[in-house]
Amino acid sequence: MTQPPLRIGAVGLGRLGRFHAETLAHRLPQTTLAAICSVEGSDLQWARETFPGTPGFSSFDAMLENAGMDAVALSSPSPLHCPQIIQALRAGLHVFSEKPLGTTVESCQEVVEESARHPRSVLMIGFMRRFDPSYIDVKQRMAAGEIGRPILFRSYSVDPASAIDGALAYLPHSAGQFLDMAVHDIDLARWLLQSEPATITAAGGCYAHPEFADYGDGDNVAAFLQFQNEAMGFLFAGRTAAHGYQVETEIIGTTGSLRIGAVPQRNLVEILDGDGVRRLCSQSFLERFEKAYVDELAAFAQCIRDERPPEVTAVDGLRATEIALAAHRAFQEKRMITLGTS
Ligand code: NAI
Repeated sequence: MTQPPLRIGAVGLGRLGRFHAETLAHRLPQTTLAAICSVEGSDLQWARETFPGTPGFSSFDAMLENAGMDAVALSSPSPLHCPQIIQALRAGLHVFSEKPLGTTVESCQEVVEESARHPRSVLMIGFMRRFDPSYIDVKQRMAAGEIGRPILFRSYSVDPASAIDGALAYLPHSAGQFLDMAVHDIDLARWLLQSEPATITAAGGCYAHPEFADYGDGDNVAAFLQFQNEAMGFLFAGRTAAHGYQVETEIIGTTGSLRIGAVPQRNLVEILDGDGVRRLCSQSFLERFEKAYVDELAAFAQCIRDERPPEVTAVDGLRATEIALAAHRAFQEKRMITLGTS
């Protein structure tokens, strides 16, 4: 017997939330957009025009009370994730939350504890790179031992310079580049290396945008890690790529290396003209990871149907936040942090 689609509410309709809302409404047959919630009048107006008849709420409390949902998908500002997750779990819902899980270790720990009290509710964190076909391929090759023992994990997340206005506007919510950007690379490192970092040092600065210093941050930052399995890690997060959106990862092993996205090209087209030979680059996270954003919500819905835990758990969210905040502290205090002891 065909089951009715899962009724999922979308919370936050900004740069990413609108795409998730459209996915729930139109891209996945197994879900329906039950309601939307945003505190911005312009978002509510957009939703009225885009999803006629779908109830809109300017308050999360009112949405939980009135929308009759199976689940919520949270794309609200990062500091709101933990309190909204806890509220939704207590309302008996399944929850998909965007990364990072939270902006403090304590709030993430509270979510892990609350989640344990609701074993029937699926709680999944949006580390969508785990659903990207290239990263899945690399994961499978490493698991099959194709590159031997991992020596170095190197990963870059650099936003296009053209997106700087959005990044500056989001600064009060971001809790730093390591938590906002490099947290994806941190999750990948844990997932691919199957190990936790033991030590972290960090460096960086404000090379183009002094506004980041007001938040104890840099516009470009880097961290060097050593994992418990002795693999080295190098993370770079920046905001000033002139060419586009660059997410690049390399894993060097004892018998081979794997690279993803070394040239952040949009497609396979090469343009040969008076300027030479050019490839166009992806310009945004949505362009590069569109399929992964859809597939992660499909996986979330499938976990609800199958009554099984998700690929990316609250504990993964907690660990990534712990590591990102340790890197931020290493950057601010200019010292090496030993994880688990400081
Ligand atoms: P944004 O600032 O563009 O949008 C935030 C949205 O949340 C706005 O619609 C705002 O009105 C709404 N909002 C604010 N307070 C609210 C409340 N109390 N209740 C309900 N809605 C509220 O932010 P953006 O860039 O869309 O980021 C949102 C989240 O998504 C962040 O946590 C960010 O880290 C994450 N994100 C993840 C990405 C990924 O690659 N997985 C990419 C971009 C963002």
